[in-house]
Amino acid sequence: MTEDVRTVEWAGNGLRLLDQTVLPGRVEHVVVRDVAALVDAIRRLVVRGAPALGVAGAFGVAIAMLQAEREGWDDAARDAAIARVREARPTAVNLAAGVDRAAPLVTKGVDAVVAEAQALLDEDIRNNRAIGAFGADWITARAQDRPLRILTHCNAGALATAGWGTALGVIRELHDRGRVETVYADETRPLLQGARLTAWELVRAGIQCLVQADGAAPGAILRGMVDVAVIGADRIAANGDTANKVGSVGVALACAAAGVPFVVAAPWSTVDLSLASGDLIPIEERDPGEVLAWGGVRTAPDGAGASNPAFDVTPAHLVTALVTETGVLEVAGGETPGGFRRPAG
Ligand code: MRU
Repeated sequence: MTEDVRTVEWAGNGLRLLDQTVLPGRVEHVVVRDVAALVDAIRRLVVRGAPALGVAGAFGVAIAMLQAEREGWDDAARDAAIARVREARPTAVNLAAGVDRAAPLVTKGVDAVVAEAQALLDEDIRNNRAIGAFGADWITARAQDRPLRILTHCNAGALATAGWGTALGVIRELHDRGRVETVYADETRPLLQGARLTAWELVRAGIQCLVQADGAAPGAILRGMVDVAVIGADRIAANGDTANKVGSVGVALACAAAGVPFVVAAPWSTVDLSLASGDLIPIEERDPGEVLAWGGVRTAPDGAGASNPAFDVTPAHLVTALVTETGVLEVAGGETPGGFRRPAG
């Protein structure tokens, strides 16, 4: 996280998480010391956002090791607990990747695992700074010479990462360069990550923002109120199809219709080259109660069912550019029509 607040932090014998379910009303932390508590925190979105989940997953390996030691588990029980962390949410590839990065160090001891998780955390902040600079360069090179009206969806900020943010990292960098007029923050169904979290980050950063209903986004784009859309990603297939928070596809379709660039900002750790296309990305289906009720009060009539996918997949041909820590890939009609290839090094 930026400034004085940290999203994910190792606390010696547990993982200290900024509780994202109670923001912006309360700034509170929880410390998780066992695997069940970590899995619950991940599922309830106490910690969320693909890169932050990756870091939490890597530290989760250390939590499983410490719990195994305390409770006298054998190696099989410990490994099963590590697998539960890995599978806590299915869509963001970073969670599994974070666990897989730390897990091979189990035989070297807890300190080695914690050091690897901390390296991932530090790397994520560096990557986000680079994404911010590359994205801001790419956008300003193509934009008119005036402050921009930017649309973002969900929260791909410091809260969704170890710090600074991916999409919000680009927006922070543009703001530092004096190039932001306003940010349309889609409220984001069903848990209001945009209205609660993105707006909180933007207000703290002194960036003007307008929260709007998700359903207002395509209309705003078609009416010429948006210069560029910048979003994050949970998993990007080898052909460039991009899974992100449900509602992203509507933003992308409107951008394509209006000729507005639709920019995805994500680290290479979010690209899953093992999946040929977005059809293969597992999409998390969440509790029906999140859309059938509001604030704990049932709003839909008894008898109504719910469809509650947490993510959707934007086809690559609607993605104008992918900004990573190594540079910008122009996707739709651009330089990488055959899909993404990670640069060597
Ligand atoms: O369900 P969430 O809040 O974890 O969804 C998060 C998103 O969709 C983000 O846009 C994505 O993880 C990128 S975060 C840099």
